[in-house]
Amino acid sequence: MDGTAPGRIQAQKVERGALGPRGRGLFGRLLDNLRGSPTTGREAVSIAIASGKGGTGKSFLATSLAVLLHKAGKRTVLVDCDFGLACDHLLLGIKPTLTLQQLLSGQATLDQVLVTAPCGPRLLPGASGVRRMATPSDRDLLAFARELGVLASREDVMVLDLGAGIAPATVLTMLGADWIVLVTQPEIAALVDAYAVVKCVAQLNEHARFLVVVNRVGTPGRGEMAFQRLTEVARQHVGVELHYLGEIADDEAVTQHRLGQLPLVATDAEARTTRCLRTLVDRLQILCGGLQPREVPSDQGIEARFRQHRLFL
Ligand SMILES: Nc1ncnc2c1ncn2[C@@H]1O[C@H](COP(=O)(O)OP(=O)(O)OP(=O)(O)O)[C@@H](O)[C@H]1O
Ligand SMILES: [Mg+2]
Repeated sequence: MDGTAPGRIQAQKVERGALGPRGRGLFGRLLDNLRGSPTTGREAVSIAIASGKGGTGKSFLATSLAVLLHKAGKRTVLVDCDFGLACDHLLLGIKPTLTLQQLLSGQATLDQVLVTAPCGPRLLPGASGVRRMATPSDRDLLAFARELGVLASREDVMVLDLGAGIAPATVLTMLGADWIVLVTQPEIAALVDAYAVVKCVAQLNEHARFLVVVNRVGTPGRGEMAFQRLTEVARQHVGVELHYLGEIADDEAVTQHRLGQLPLVATDAEARTTRCLRTLVDRLQILCGGLQPREVPSDQGIEARFRQHRLFL
């Protein structure tokens, strides 16, 4: 916090509407109850960025995608779902005073916590080094689902940057998302852990849709070879078809990027990795049907999906 008196939290970015987001959510549910049948609402495409092994480049990819999708004209929000160890704000050069922690505890509203990054997309920052946030309670998860529902009604695309592995809140977010982008590396340890995620999620939702990015590739083409091994194992053992999104080269320009600076994709449009990421975004748009928001019945929206899946975790 920045010395702001308790109860007088300053808005980081306020987007006004006649009815506040909580009001709209409540009003929508009230209407559903009165009508006895679900209403439909516009919903953003949600993309969870996940991995088995840690440090594969999820946050790098999630922040880069958010910036490039914004540049491509999509209303984009990045949600830092690495509960307890969030860092997307650092990768976007932002110093937020409020995070998901204040939002979920009811100390701040969504509009107070949302920040607009200098390079375009909105960010819902996560908390870092807060032990309570690392293991969110059921109440926290329900509050999180509600806020995601509100965000989804306003945006075109929601990029959800997850922590590594298969912690319950991480799996739940993958189950609730429309698409899962698995970020792996060509090494066998990363591929084995990526397969473990596919297996775990596919057992809970046979309709889960996976796209694969192979990051930090040394020799061009090794990414696709690694993907072929992963997809064969997934097809044979869990009957899941994976889709290849592309590879990203191991690039010193990425490693040397300092925290707090603007991301590479925002500062160097001609860098090798920026061009590669633009191709990846084009392919993402093709594979995900143009990343167009669509009308969804309220009982099938992201909030409802979270509520349903959490019962099976
Ligand atoms: N293509 C790349 N070339 C070089 N370095 C990279 C590349 N992608 C990511 N990195 C570096 O790898 C490190 C880990 O990246 P990042 O934080 O994005 O991983 P992560 O999967 O989000 O980690 P965590 O599991 O801890 O959330 C960072 O130092 C980042 O700069
Ligand atoms: Mg990360």
